[in-house]
Amino acid sequence: MTKQRVLTGITTSGTPHLGNYVGAIRPAIESSRANDVESFFFLADYHALIKAQDPELIHRSTMEIAATWLALGLDTDKVTFYRQSDIPEITELTWFLTCMTAKGLMNRAHAYKAAVQANEDAGEDADFAITMGLFSYPVLMAADILMFNAHQIPVGRDQIQHVEMARDVAQRFNHHFGEHFVLPKALVDDKVAVLQGLDGRKMSKSYGNTIPLFLNEKALKKHINKINTNLLEPGEPKDPDTSAVFQIWQAFATEQQTLEMREQFANGIGWGEAKRQLFELVNGELSEARARYEALMQTPSEIEQILQEGAVKARRESSAFLATLRHAVGIRPLA
Ligand code: TRP
Repeated sequence: MTKQRVLTGITTSGTPHLGNYVGAIRPAIESSRANDVESFFFLADYHALIKAQDPELIHRSTMEIAATWLALGLDTDKVTFYRQSDIPEITELTWFLTCMTAKGLMNRAHAYKAAVQANEDAGEDADFAITMGLFSYPVLMAADILMFNAHQIPVGRDQIQHVEMARDVAQRFNHHFGEHFVLPKALVDDKVAVLQGLDGRKMSKSYGNTIPLFLNEKALKKHINKINTNLLEPGEPKDPDTSAVFQIWQAFATEQQTLEMREQFANGIGWGEAKRQLFELVNGELSEARARYEALMQTPSEIEQILQEGAVKARRESSAFLATLRHAVGIRPLA
């Protein structure tokens, strides 16, 4: 039986936070250890260009995200770990797929529609500040996925539509040029927590409510202390299910520890004490990885070397596959 291929990417336009860790990176690394899967994890730096035009930010974020995966124990011998822009076949495939993508399909993409809506709400022209990069974003993502014929794509809910679009485009390509592509499926894990941020909304860079993953202890403590709480005093029972403190606790705790914290909430644990315990728990899980992260961030050449090796491994596949695809569409040597 062929192994299931699992593929996912992270856009390099920010600093990894606890929400990325709990919702994406931790489960991805865990699942990559199984024997019946082949994992492809990559740094989506071409996607970053769609959102960010700050070269320093993109460069720094690429390093931070790579160091994060490595510090958390990703086994790069088992997994194929690479930077999107090191694989030129992905951009070449993007063009083949662009020519197989109905414009009407892209008109329906949520991210694009939201941008148009925001323009209309602001009384602007519908196309104001919308680039072709944003419009074509799902095609680039389809190329990421189809390049390696991945079966399963672990993503957040907001990305399901993009995976379905990749599937549509793959189907159309297969219909025209032969069965080259596996049809990918989005994998949304309901057990994985969507973490709340400091203000209780979903933890997200765009809300500015994140707790960065590898803050030093002092800064981590400070961020945890900033998590929004209500005005209940120590001794007054508190509702765990509406508390971001409890929700983050749950994402790091064992079942037993979660039950115990539930009880402490019922018994009126003070917010200060709850946050102190939360800090201890989170810090305990992250402190070793943090030390590795800090060391890696001091030695970018080491990270670069690992990415280069990942690119060689990835390109062994992508260059052979792209040769087949070029031939399939009629781009062939004349003699
Ligand atoms: N668009 C994804 C995000 O913003 C990142 C991404 C790019 C991706 N290419 C991908 C995810 C391919 C899965 C598969 O979250």
